[in-house]
Amino acid sequence: MHILLTGGSGFIGSNFVRFALESRADLSITNLDALTYSGNPENLADIEHDKRYRFVHGDIKDLDLCTRLLGEVDAVVHMAAESHVDRSIIDGRPFVETNVLGTQTLLDAARRNNFKGRFVHVSTDEVFGDLPLDQPELKFHEKLPLKPSSPYSASKAASDMVVHAYHHTFGLNVSVTNCSNNFGPYQFPEKVIPLFVTNLIEGKKVPLYGDGRNVRDWLHVVDHCEAVLAVLEKGKAGQTYCIGGNNERSNLELTHTILELMGKGKEMIQPVTDRLGHDRRYAIDPRKIESELGWKPTRSAWPGALEQTIKWYVDHERWWRRVKSGAYREYYQKQYGNR
Ligand SMILES: NC(=O)c1ccc[n+]([C@@H]2O[C@H](COP(=O)([O-])OP(=O)(O)OC[C@H]3O[C@@H](n4cnc5c(N)ncnc54)[C@H](O)[C@@H]3O)[C@@H](O)[C@H]2O)c1
Repeated sequence: MHILLTGGSGFIGSNFVRFALESRADLSITNLDALTYSGNPENLADIEHDKRYRFVHGDIKDLDLCTRLLGEVDAVVHMAAESHVDRSIIDGRPFVETNVLGTQTLLDAARRNNFKGRFVHVSTDEVFGDLPLDQPELKFHEKLPLKPSSPYSASKAASDMVVHAYHHTFGLNVSVTNCSNNFGPYQFPEKVIPLFVTNLIEGKKVPLYGDGRNVRDWLHVVDHCEAVLAVLEKGKAGQTYCIGGNNERSNLELTHTILELMGKGKEMIQPVTDRLGHDRRYAIDPRKIESELGWKPTRSAWPGALEQTIKWYVDHERWWRRVKSGAYREYYQKQYGNR
């Protein structure tokens, strides 16, 4: 099977390329990525000469390019997105452009090709809004209405709806995944875990939003990749699959665990003004994907998986220092030209 993966040079995408090529000998991947600030081909430096991997530098909003690429592949895994909530609060426009118009462009390219292959749209649990802290029995599931609260999650929810509409209207063979917060290697260090870990290595404090009581359901990125592959191979057209780790942690608990694992004290916490409209709690009920597709997380056990992730950043200091300083951009400017 030849997959068109969009956003394969980002955090989840690069983990997906590595995981999918390692676990399926008959699979090849074309990675379409615009190399925005969070796309880093260095994430795949060890793969770029693999005969089963091809990189195409381009934008999912380019209909002619997407039409050509859709004509060459058997399936699509769509991950390309603007992905950071804080950036969406500063400027929501690129989020609507990439996440909504970009997704629609890909779907239109599929229609132009009369594409019959599987199309997996990778989305977030944030499309469901948030849950109260005092009702732990409530969790997100596939039958809930979408109720996004940030400009990021609103753009993802819109894209999920466009994807479902293309199934309903044109019969495209699509599935949508809504996954909880991911952690693991190659995450851009604006996101909380790599930000805190790399700050602590640099001797800097960690900025903790508000009262720190916001809860997230943490899943190892490779468990997420395995779930996406299961949806690609066994998922049903028109269906949504919620993916989560049954691993709820408050930001305060997460911060304390990171400090403890890195041998640092609580004085390294710098409380900062809360994020605007900060969702209180996300939690996934993963029973549908577990029972229908036989997926279960096996790499997310806490705190061992967090400890391994911290070790990855400690061992890959050159990688994140180049990301933090912007030096990684020279690498692809040399290979793929200026943007
Ligand atoms: N990180 C999480 O915890 C999480 C959880 C659930 C779902 N998701 C979803 O998974 C997907 C990947 O997230 P991530 O954390 O790896 O994000 P990321 O920001 O690390 O990577 C996004 C990638 O998309 C590329 N991209 C952006 N705009 C593009 C465009 N117009 N055309 C082509 N490529 C473009 C970027 O260059 C980058 O390589 C996103 O759709 C996100 O909404 C993320």
